[in-house]
This record gives sequence, C-alpha cells and structure tokens, in this order.
Amino acid sequence: MVGRFEVEQYSLSKLRQFHERVLSFGDKFVKIHCKLWVSESISALVVIGLFLSFLLAMVCTYFYVFPSYQPAIRTYRVHESSDLVGKCNVFDGKWIPDESYPLYNASQCPFAERGFDCVANGRRDRGYQKWRWKPKYCEIPRFNVHEILGKLRGKRIVFVGDSLSRTQWESMICLLMKGVADKRDVYEINGNKITKRIRFLGVWFSSYNLRIDFYRSVFLVQPGPAPRRAPKRVKSTVRLDRLDDISKEWIDSDFLIFNSGHWWTPTKLFDMGCYFQAGGSLKRGMGIPSAFRTALKTWASWVETSVNRNRTRIFFRTFESSHWIGRNRNSCKATRRPWLKTKGRDHSRISDIITDVVKKMTTPAIVLRVTSMGAFRSDAHVGTWSDNPSVPDCSHWCLPGVPDTWNEILLSMMLSEDGL
Ligand SMILES: *[C@@H]1O[C@H](CO)[C@@H](O)[C@H](O)[C@H]1NC(C)=O
Ligand SMILES: *[C@@H]1O[C@H](CO)[C@@H](O)[C@H](O)[C@H]1NC(C)=O
Repeated sequence: MVGRFEVEQYSLSKLRQFHERVLSFGDKFVKIHCKLWVSESISALVVIGLFLSFLLAMVCTYFYVFPSYQPAIRTYRVHESSDLVGKCNVFDGKWIPDESYPLYNASQCPFAERGFDCVANGRRDRGYQKWRWKPKYCEIPRFNVHEILGKLRGKRIVFVGDSLSRTQWESMICLLMKGVADKRDVYEINGNKITKRIRFLGVWFSSYNLRIDFYRSVFLVQPGPAPRRAPKRVKSTVRLDRLDDISKEWIDSDFLIFNSGHWWTPTKLFDMGCYFQAGGSLKRGMGIPSAFRTALKTWASWVETSVNRNRTRIFFRTFESSHWIGRNRNSCKATRRPWLKTKGRDHSRISDIITDVVKKMTTPAIVLRVTSMGAFRSDAHVGTWSDNPSVPDCSHWCLPGVPDTWNEILLSMMLSEDGL
C-alpha cells in the first residue's frame, strides 16, 4: 500500500522527467531554427513564441493521450466505523449522577500512580467520582469485569502516547484488577515502578495470559538531535517523516490505542529549542497544526503498511480537554461539579486533524472522540491534589474518574466489533 505522500512524490518525479524530456527536445528545436534565422532579434522572439506554443501543444497532447496521468491525488474510502454511522454515537451524550460509581478504589490499586490518586492526596469532595456518561440514544454496557476478562484471555493490549495514555492504561488495569482474586497474579513484567519518563511499562495478568502495555511516545514520530550546522537555538528536533523507533515493539498486538496532542504546543516545543524536521531538512517556519498533520500522516502510512489487519484493531483517542482558565490560560481550579456548558472546550484543532487523517485511511481505525465528553468535566482534574500540590494541574484527571469512562467505551468496542 503506498501512502499518499509517496503517490504524490511519484507523480512529481514523473512530471519532472517529462519536463526534462520536453525541454531537451526544445533545446534541439531552438538550435536548428537558430541556424536558419540567425542574427535577427525579432526572429529570436518568433522562436520563443514558437517554442512556447510547441510546449503547450505537447502538454495538451500528453494529457489527451494519457488521461490516466491526471489523478495524482488518490481518493480514499471513508470509513463508516469511525463514525459509528447506523449505530448510536456513544460520544454524544451527557453526564448523569450515579451512586454506583466509582468502579474501584485507587488506593487499593497498585497501578494507579500516586499523582492521580486525588483522594489519597487530600481531596475531600467525592461528588466528582459519581458521574456516569449517558449517550443520547443508547447505553454503554454495564461494566462486567468477569465477562470482559474472559473475553480478553490471551490478548495483548498496547497503549501508546503521552501521560494521558498512561492514565488510561492505569485505569484499565485498575478496572480489570477488580476481577482478579489474588492481586499477586498481576505484575509489571520488569518489576518497574510507574514514573513520568519511563518509556515502557508492561503489566501481566498471569491467570488470563493477558498483557496490557504502555509505551511513552509523546509525538508518535521520532525525536532526534539537532542537525549539523543548525542555528544555535535548535537543540533537538521532531522528525515528522519517521515513526518512533520503538514502534517495532508495539506492532505485535491485538489492540493498539494511540493518543498525541498535549505536547504539540509552543512551550513544549519551540521554547525548549525543539523544531520540526522532515526529509533531512529543518522546517523552521512550519506551524504546529501542519506539523501535527504531517506526523499523523506518517503514522497513518505506518498503519497501512505495517499493521496486520487480520489481527490488530486500531484506536486513536482525540484531544483530552483541559480546563486551564484565566487570560493566559495558566490558572487551574478544579470545580466541585461539572460545567453545564462546554465553553468551547468541545472543539479542538488537534481532534479535527485526527478525525480528518483517520477518515482517509484504508485500514479501519476507530476514533475515540473523548474531547466533548471531557469538556464538561472541569471538576475531574487533578488540580492541587497531585503529588506536587504547588503545581496545579488542569490537564490530567483524577483516578478513578474520566479515563474509566474512556475505558468502558473502549472495552465495549473492543469486545463487540471483533466478534469475540
Ligand atoms: C479505599 O481504600 C483505602 C485503603 O484500603 C481505605 O482506607 C478507604 O476507606 C477506601 N475508600 C473507600 C471509598 O472505600
Ligand atoms: C487475512 O485474512 C484474509 C481473509 O480471511 C486472508 O486472505 C489473508 O491471507 C490474511 N492475511 C494474513 C496476513 O493473515
């Protein structure tokens, strides 16, 4: 399968060859005619005129003779599954109070990191844990841990992305651990502790032969050093045309769940001396949205060429709403109750690009559109109840909390659509 880039590049190089052919022919043409009508400058103009009309005629003939050349831009089939057309759109709905939540106690789950265990970090109000997502036209199936564990026997689930992916990974393990009687049956395969910068964490549910992994890859594409002779302020790069090297470790899986978004900001990139690179050259003028789109296209063509469609199901989570407020969007105050309105947080450029790129893929991938459901949940962020209360946090979520809902939806899709 050729990615759109390659198709375009191929067409370009064909066009170039064609131009070269026409030009070299034209050269000879000019030389012959120059011998006939030498010295007169007017005749030179005539020659140029002749040459241009000849060129035009050639190009027209070419397109007439080879009309198949024209569709240089390939069109893709739009995938209904990414829209859940014909079924209920589970991402369109509202939060309703539900006393049966939360689904687990973070203090009893060794895989909920301390930074996200808001209760353990002093949060007193508990209302934020007692909301259930209700889609407009259907229900998310009730979370039945034993049924789910049974169906996931022998599978490998891999989360790839930034810390928001790690939260979802932790949430899934805590949800599923409720169904395991002997907690010692569940362990990190290298005995590693969860830390912010760790690149890989793999948890083994030994009695179910089930593995749930997390790979940290905040851009999904390959970070790299500054190229030689780059300006001083360039300290590192993000290589938009190459998928992260560790992708070879996550390819062999049954479910791949991606995210990326929170690191595509000027403060995390340019202010740190990190610039974009593609095809060996630095792209200093490139804006963040177009860089993100380029990276996602790299991801998409990697999926098209490398993923075994018969085995691996692909999911991509959209931008997880944050609730920074104030003029510079730098203050954070977790509320006691969800906002009644989304205040624009339900839209995100990043999410639009994800939806757009996935739509054009030929390998089916499901977009988990969590942006608008999260937009209401100003109450569910870590706030000052993290392991570092001096730095408030309106990006990450408390556990248990919103990431559990992502997982309830994800699990229902994982188990229904693959016909288990
Ligand atoms: C959660 O677990 C901790 C530690 O076992 C316990 O002290 C606490 O009461 C539990 N919280 C709830 C709401 O059950
Ligand atoms: C995938 O499934 C199709 C149809 O069942 C089959 O023809 C094909 O060989 C399979 N490919 C791989 C790589 O297993």
